[in-house]
Amino acid sequence: MEKNILAEYLYSILGGSKRAETLVEQRTRELEKTNKEFLESDTLNKAFLAAIPFGIDIVDEDGNIQFLNKRLEEKVGKLPLAKKCWEVYRDDRTQCSNCPLLKGIIPGETEVIEVSGVFEGKVFQIFHTGMVYKGKKAILEIFQDVTEERKAEDELTNAYFQLRKVDQLKSDFVSMISHELRTPLTAIKEGVDIVMDGTAGSLNPKQGEFLNIAKRNIDRLVRLISSILDFQRIESGKMVFVFAQHDINSLVKEAKENMLPFALSKELDFILELGDDLPLVNFDHDKIMQVLTNLVSNAIKSTDKGGQIKIITTKRDSFVQVSVSDTGIGIASEDIAKLFRQFEQLDVGLERRAGGTGLGLVISKKIIEAHKGKIWADSEFGKGSAFHFILPLIKT
Ligand SMILES: Nc1ncnc2c1ncn2[C@@H]1O[C@H](COP(=O)(O)OP(=O)(O)OP(=O)(O)O)[C@@H](O)[C@H]1O
Ligand SMILES: [Mg+2]
Repeated sequence: MEKNILAEYLYSILGGSKRAETLVEQRTRELEKTNKEFLESDTLNKAFLAAIPFGIDIVDEDGNIQFLNKRLEEKVGKLPLAKKCWEVYRDDRTQCSNCPLLKGIIPGETEVIEVSGVFEGKVFQIFHTGMVYKGKKAILEIFQDVTEERKAEDELTNAYFQLRKVDQLKSDFVSMISHELRTPLTAIKEGVDIVMDGTAGSLNPKQGEFLNIAKRNIDRLVRLISSILDFQRIESGKMVFVFAQHDINSLVKEAKENMLPFALSKELDFILELGDDLPLVNFDHDKIMQVLTNLVSNAIKSTDKGGQIKIITTKRDSFVQVSVSDTGIGIASEDIAKLFRQFEQLDVGLERRAGGTGLGLVISKKIIEAHKGKIWADSEFGKGSAFHFILPLIKT
């Protein structure tokens, strides 16, 4: 019996120490693992802080600098740690007025401020993130130098305003010249009209022929000047629109009546396909007439004898659509994008170009946009073109 107790006692001691040994081994392995992990993460942090291309520091809640990375040291020099941050970064103290330290630190929250005039007049974005460092609330500050970006932005803004100024000067000059030209031109036109209608005495055929050429050119100049003035007016937002409810089909019929002699002079077929029961649309009658007249005139100019001009009106969901199509020369696909640019006339030979200013479609686009509508074109080169515009319906 005694022998048994002793054996058990010895066994418990031996067994227990065995267990203790295993436990110690296990703890040692765990500690080694933790230590290894810590070393790895510490190495990663250090590598990260060394490689990151920004200045970084940690400032505690009392404003003491607790850490500086190499990049920041390059800017401010090696510092005795625990120096107050405002003693270091203080070309002027604009940065201090926005400092999160003044508002209290919230760990995990990031705030970005932009300051200029620090580190010899540079501009920095400073990312502040609240944290706890060595048992104290602190902020991690990342300094990103944005001086060059801001300089480039400022230069771009200055260049933009400079250009706008020059553009304004140019516009004012063109407007002034156009106005000045219009008055004497009106007098010339009236004079020529009087001579031509025989009021001032009869003309021989040769004189009539020359005056006819003069009149055609005067008319062209009048059109050019009024297009330029229209363009300037619309560009500067000075064009006045008189909106009212109108029937689009009546306007189309009126446009056909006005343009029919021109179409007939080229022996073109001019047809209308008008949608039934179209609702009234809110638009400026004269301005939409100007758009339609330009589209029809372009179609006629671009279509050879025997071709066809067609205007179609349709009601879509919340707008009406007007399409002017022709069976003319068409437009190359690469030229479609050029159509609505100012003074753009496509390279279609001198004979066809004569007479226009290249402003008609630009003005048309502006007018349609002022009605909150859209205008666009599609075409098959050599087969014809179609120009469409839509005007929104007013919800009642
Ligand atoms: N239906 C069309 N078919 C082929 N080309 C066209 C058509 N409509 C317009 N174009 C091309 O687009 C150019 C620009 O048209 P836009 O109406 O802006 O000016 P324009 O008719 O030349 O001059 P303006 O209308 O100012 O008297 C035209 O010169 C022509 O080259
Ligand atoms: Mg035109």
